[in-house]
Amino acid sequence: MSALTRPRRVLVAVLILVFIVLFARRDNSSREREGSVEVLNSTLGFQEIFVVNLVERTDRRDAMTLAAAVTDLSFTFVPGVRGADVAEKVLPPSERSKNENWVGKTGSWRAHMNVLQRIVHENITSALIMEDDADWATDLKSQARSLSLATQSYLQPLRRSPSHSLSTLHARAPSLDDENPVIALRSTPAVLPPRTSPYGDDWDVLWLGHVGSHLPTESVPSGVEPRSFLTLFVANDDTVPAPHRLKRHPFAKDPDRFASAFPPHTRVVHAARGNAGIQAYAVSQRGARKLLHRFGLEEFGASYDLMLRDWCDGVGGGHEMEEGRKGEGGPVCVTTQPPIFSQWYSSGGSDIHGIGGGYFRGTGSTYIRRSVMLNLRRLVAGKGASEGLVDQWPDEGKGAW
Ligand SMILES: *[C@@H]1O[C@H](CO)[C@@H](O)[C@H](O)[C@H]1NC(C)=O
Ligand SMILES: *[C@@H]1O[C@H](CO)[C@@H](O)[C@H](O)[C@H]1NC(C)=O
Ligand SMILES: *[C@@H]1O[C@H](CO)[C@@H](O)[C@H](O)[C@H]1NC(C)=O
Repeated sequence: MSALTRPRRVLVAVLILVFIVLFARRDNSSREREGSVEVLNSTLGFQEIFVVNLVERTDRRDAMTLAAAVTDLSFTFVPGVRGADVAEKVLPPSERSKNENWVGKTGSWRAHMNVLQRIVHENITSALIMEDDADWATDLKSQARSLSLATQSYLQPLRRSPSHSLSTLHARAPSLDDENPVIALRSTPAVLPPRTSPYGDDWDVLWLGHVGSHLPTESVPSGVEPRSFLTLFVANDDTVPAPHRLKRHPFAKDPDRFASAFPPHTRVVHAARGNAGIQAYAVSQRGARKLLHRFGLEEFGASYDLMLRDWCDGVGGGHEMEEGRKGEGGPVCVTTQPPIFSQWYSSGGSDIHGIGGGYFRGTGSTYIRRSVMLNLRRLVAGKGASEGLVDQWPDEGKGAW
């Protein structure tokens, strides 16, 4: 060192600093590219996309086919099931109230069991399962890209301590001296690259289409703690409507809780908690096996969406799950708010129940801004995003409904 003159020493120090800054940047920017290629393919980085469709709903098959074509998605229809065609004796042995109408519920339950059975039978690594009246944004692929980065950061082993992921580090309720469990995606630590799915290796369900979820720190009636208290957020996501627009249906009095907890246009990713509705959800092979076992064989005591909600929450049903929920074998369900798939209401309405108890006769979908269904005519005519697609939920002025 004594050989270096003072100005040289300063120069060396400056060079070292420049290297550190450059390397730090490169590390982050390369992480931002990770997972970005596979999720852009026509199955969004899942091995398959399945769409559940009752054969007589040819109208929905037409709409889905066109919507997928103009947003470069490929999927396989799987036939829906009528409740009347499900024999009583095949239902898992659960307590079921005699006063409820089970016919609609058994049909939907069986249709989802059939998809899960196929995923298990064909050993499909991961699949997205959608209802046939789903809507999504024309920006779906860029949403999938940012989602995959978030789920990787949430689920993958940390480079600096591979026996943990960021979500397992935050498995306990935060106390004062803990690190804040609310973390910006851009400042998450580096993780090991996934091997089985661009969304990460250790998940059962990615709940991507719903009508509302709860933040891990919000209380839910069951009182059961989430598997992880971690919430990752992505700031300035232009596909997220303004806070006052973030409502599960047009008549909802208040916006969803997360809308006021974060700055406008923030997307959050966290453990699924009290999720309502299954417009779209992805399952891993492991998740499909667990769900088929649980709901194909062991339990059918409510509609499938409610059972899935409780399963992800770790409430109700088997004690073996209660014990396992924070460790090996417990369900790992991750969700995002706002959802990236939503129900498209057209004048035909839902087969189960219309929005607002069936009195609503509007056309549109909650949460989705540049809706593919709303813009279908323009997109089919070959117009692109630059040519004035309608924003269903603009920040200012009147929304679509
Ligand atoms: C999309 O990527 C996933 C993950 O690599 C892969 O399993 C799937 O086959 C790909 N889809 C298509 C249509 O190539
Ligand atoms: C299912 O796929 C996994 C991973 O691709 C493979 O390791 C396993 O052997 C397959 N199982 C069957 C029954 O084919
Ligand atoms: C890069 O990542 C580190 C954590 O690995 C974080 O502290 C830093 O803020 C990030 N830098 C930028 C420019 O986002």
